[in-house]
Amino acid sequence: MFINIGLIGQPLNHTFSPFIQTRFFKNTGLNGGYCCFETSGGEALKETFDTLKRYSFKGVNVTVPHKQEVMGLMDSLEPTAEDIGAVNVVRISDKLEGFNTDAEGFQRMLADAGYSLSGKKVLLLGCGGASMAVLYVLKSFGVKLTVVNRTLDKAESVLKSMSFDNAVLQDYNFIKAESEFDYVINGTSIGLEDGLFPDMSRVSCREAAVDIQYKKGLTPFLKCYSDADCGKLDGFSMLVYQAAKAFEIWTGIYPEFSVKKISGELGLI
Ligand code: ATR
Repeated sequence: MFINIGLIGQPLNHTFSPFIQTRFFKNTGLNGGYCCFETSGGEALKETFDTLKRYSFKGVNVTVPHKQEVMGLMDSLEPTAEDIGAVNVVRISDKLEGFNTDAEGFQRMLADAGYSLSGKKVLLLGCGGASMAVLYVLKSFGVKLTVVNRTLDKAESVLKSMSFDNAVLQDYNFIKAESEFDYVINGTSIGLEDGLFPDMSRVSCREAAVDIQYKKGLTPFLKCYSDADCGKLDGFSMLVYQAAKAFEIWTGIYPEFSVKKISGELGLI
């Protein structure tokens, strides 16, 4: 049987997901393929799912900007997706089931690097859609959290929706003063276009600077800590681990893989 899976989002021109999922098909010996569907929201999003059902697709990944909007199209949601308020994986049969594997991806990325965040003092930059899975994991670790976001009321409503009651919320003036954290995590999209990141020199990091962005070499955020005596971790392995869990949801098989090998094949190292 040929297994059709795919990706829905907009834009999709930089995605690595087809490469990663095709690797998983190869590594598991399953026969399948991965297609990208660049789709806008609203009626177009709904029509895309109708089409995928008609062509017997087993599932799709969902990426920006549809992770929240697709929730309304699901027949059921697994509890993690419901708690996070975002769906990045859909299993398709005669019904649509929504999952979130970003949180597991983030958690595995930290564990793989040997980091344990339980009870640690953490600074999270950014509190948009991309930070929601991160917040879910941080909450499960019981961290002492400070969040910095440009738009405070947006961050406030995200923290409230996730019942993250004891987080301290700040604007970017916070990073102009001396502070020290065990982990500093970037959940923003700052620097994606121009490579520039705000000055982080006053914010010390004891254990690791962690970015959910990834690129060849250091991301703009990680460059801020290039001379610091702390670990530096970008989000590529989060992408691979969330993809592996998604593959398991669609096929029933968790693939064998090496993050380093995939990263090398994509020219990221
Ligand atoms: P969204 O918030 O629209 O779901 P996202 O990619 O998930 O999009 O999140 C983008 C994050 O990067 C947000 O925290 C955003 O801050 P706002 O909530 O204030 O929009 C942050 N971000 C993006 N560009 C930024 C900039 N130039 N300066 C500061 N923060 C920025």
